[in-house]
Amino acid sequence: ARLAILLSGRGSNMLALVEATKTGVLKDLAEVVVVFSNKPDAPGLAFAAEQGCPVASLPSQGRKREAFDAEAAQLLQQYRPDFVVLAGYMRILSPAFIQPFAGRILNIHPADTHQHQGLHAYEWAFENQLSETKITVHLVDEGLDTGPILAQQTVDLCGVDTLAEVERRGLAVEHELYAQTLAELIKSQQNVMSSAAETSRVPK
Ligand code: GRF
Repeated sequence: ARLAILLSGRGSNMLALVEATKTGVLKDLAEVVVVFSNKPDAPGLAFAAEQGCPVASLPSQGRKREAFDAEAAQLLQQYRPDFVVLAGYMRILSPAFIQPFAGRILNIHPADTHQHQGLHAYEWAFENQLSETKITVHLVDEGLDTGPILAQQTVDLCGVDTLAEVERRGLAVEHELYAQTLAELIKSQQNVMSSAAETSRVPK
């Protein structure tokens, strides 16, 4: 499957996904066809280039949401992605972006999306002294962290006494869960396609 990864920041999830396509659970299942950012100076974009990934950017600053999203979608379509994978992409997507990729956009959120949406999810878990939190991978719709959940994994926060430690434990789970969820999604789609091909070969 062809993955377009979108980021606005440091890109640790992007790096974990690239690694998984090279030597991990996404090997022989997926390739990163572009890493895109709305921030041309995002550190993650430079890391992606170092990994040999094609990179592209389009500054969103000062642009109207719909116009920017339409242009970004058009740019990404040139790479023919099967999945658009948001990895710290700090924008709420408008229909102009969602429609061309409907049902094929994924996001990772560092909380249970039923309990917490938007920014600062690790701060929220830390300040509320939660004994555990969840990482969520979900399909993206027009809301903020509202789309159908594909996978969740618990992060144990017992004995944690700094925000940095919450983030360290959370990110370790994020990096595994995102690649794993994509691998399962791609495999299940391949199964659907091969059983459809089987069915069409059955003599009438
Ligand atoms: C991650 O915590 C992710 O869950 C959230 O934004 C952060 C991005 O971090 N959506 P990174 O850029 O992948 O390191």
